[in-house]
Amino acid sequence: MYRLPPLRRIKAFRSTPSGIERNAMYDFTFEDLVGDEKVFFAEYFDKKPLLRKNAMPGDVRDILSVRKLDELLHMESIRPPYIKVNHNGSGVPEKGYTRSVVVQGVNITDTVVPEKIYELFRAGATVTWCSLNQIVPELRDFTRVISDKMAVRTDVVGFMTPTKKRGYLPHHDPVDLFIVQLEGTKRWKLWDLPAQREGDNASYTDEELGEPAIEVLLEPGDVLYLPYNTPHAAAAEDQVSLHLSIMMRPRMWKDLLRETFEQAASGPEFNQYPHIGALRDAGTEALFRQKIAALAARMDALDSGAELDRLAELGRTMPGSSHGTTFQTIAETDRITPSVLLRRTAAVVEFGANDGGRTQMTVNGHKIAVPTPVAETLAGLEADVPAGDIFPGVDPERATKAAQGLTRLGVLEVAPH
Ligand SMILES: [Fe+2]
Repeated sequence: MYRLPPLRRIKAFRSTPSGIERNAMYDFTFEDLVGDEKVFFAEYFDKKPLLRKNAMPGDVRDILSVRKLDELLHMESIRPPYIKVNHNGSGVPEKGYTRSVVVQGVNITDTVVPEKIYELFRAGATVTWCSLNQIVPELRDFTRVISDKMAVRTDVVGFMTPTKKRGYLPHHDPVDLFIVQLEGTKRWKLWDLPAQREGDNASYTDEELGEPAIEVLLEPGDVLYLPYNTPHAAAAEDQVSLHLSIMMRPRMWKDLLRETFEQAASGPEFNQYPHIGALRDAGTEALFRQKIAALAARMDALDSGAELDRLAELGRTMPGSSHGTTFQTIAETDRITPSVLLRRTAAVVEFGANDGGRTQMTVNGHKIAVPTPVAETLAGLEADVPAGDIFPGVDPERATKAAQGLTRLGVLEVAPH
């Protein structure tokens, strides 16, 4: 299974194995959001709001800015549900700000009309940018840092509210939120968690909630953490406000147990197809009882630490923060020359016995037979070696071709430089 690298801090410039550099514009850690991690998980996580003034380093407009949203709006590819407009507490129908545009012969019926969005914004509407981590690569980096720690699905939503306007009526959400103020200011009212937390959406009237328990003004760089179901309302002050809500869908015990059950019930002994209707055998009930006992025994025998690690890994690889460099890897494999340094990948390679001068190797589910000296060289490869010299005594051009083949199979990779 692919494991995300330990992400403490995303470098402003990262070097890929090919040396291709990408400018990830913003550099932050999980601690920037929560402060001391131990204190956060012991005292705030799932319990109460946490406000951190001036928590984010650098210029938070590098994460996302009003200017960047102008650019995105004009790209003609942002469509509902990635953009939504909310006015006076209710959603504006999409027809109010979209039109049909033909792209590659296909009629895209809900292409956003920037002028209409601007008109609504001037009239006081809030523009909501949903799942921005599916659109803006820098925000994908952002969700990775959080998903990696929280082991849950993470999505980033941007809220842009005009001066003096309240975006939504007081409500609570089914998700934990990290709110990061990026531009302007926003005054937040928070109420105590309801006695019963259902993990649902709900709206409130001002009368139902009474006086807020906490009132805070968020300024650029401030972070506010809200556990799921915290009732909240927010209003912009004397400037256009832009904030991100990083939404984390809690995985409750019932969700985790369902995953564990799925794993435990996947054994072959649970694959038979019993008839359980009126004409079922007399022994079916007893058999059912046996299956329940067998399942319970399997669950009981689980290594709970290893299972929690597996569940955490599943959470990290949920949609919303995946990333990959396969195109780059394929392109750089094609560019391998005799002088390019190669190394063994982390992939597990099983070597078979020497059979008439050839050895079978199994890697990533592929079986190939290679000359035994090649297998021996690969088995002992520890340092980075130029592709042309990787197989001693073999012509450099031929060695390079063989190394390219082994790179495609995932046995070798270009060494970082
Ligand atoms: Fe909300």
